[in-house]
Amino acid sequence: MTRKAYRSEKITVSFDVERCIHFAECVRGLPEVFDIDKRPWVQPYRSHPDRVAEVVIRCPTGALQFERRDGGAEEPIPDANIVAVAADGPLYVRGDIEITDSTGTTVLEDTRVALCRCGESMNKPFCDNSHRQANFRDVGLLGENRLAARPDGGGRKLRIVPGVDGPLILSGEIEIRSADGKNAYHGTKTALCRCGYSMNKPFCDGSHARAMWRSE
Ligand code: SF4
Ligand code: FES
Repeated sequence: MTRKAYRSEKITVSFDVERCIHFAECVRGLPEVFDIDKRPWVQPYRSHPDRVAEVVIRCPTGALQFERRDGGAEEPIPDANIVAVAADGPLYVRGDIEITDSTGTTVLEDTRVALCRCGESMNKPFCDNSHRQANFRDVGLLGENRLAARPDGGGRKLRIVPGVDGPLILSGEIEIRSADGKNAYHGTKTALCRCGYSMNKPFCDGSHARAMWRSE
């Protein structure tokens, strides 16, 4: 992952193009700073650093990040770990997130990620907008609850392991919200579909094996 940095005296904004899928929040939120018709397209000195930070935090994919150079507040770690299922799109996750590979090695620690659930991304486990080309369709309601409560509790951190040829394994304090915002499940351990074939989305129902889905 390569991040490009844009500096002002008071704040550095960084951008990872591979995680940007969602042409809206930044450009709409602060057009004088984020303008894709200008070079560079991020000009952080054009607004107050607090305002720049506020809009960066709205970026749902984590493509945008910031670091204060003036002693201002850094991005807070959210109080809750929330997985918001998007209709016909990815899982938007916010929280105290740690993604590890199957050997337990940390791949990423972040507060915001968009994870592929259509199975088609070329940048797995992240969404890269391939769901559009693949015409992925799912209303984003919550299937039969497969969130387990572990006797020892989940821990504050949300750990996500993208399984090889299988689901996303989540553990920690988890809230899963339906796309219409009407329902939410809470628990501490679950497996979420990332192949696109489950009949019980967003949960895994083992369809990846029947579909012989490959994550690589
Ligand atoms: S808010 Fe984030 S994901 Fe959306 S366009 Fe801006 S950088 Fe990309
Ligand atoms: S859900 Fe966006 S690429 Fe799969």
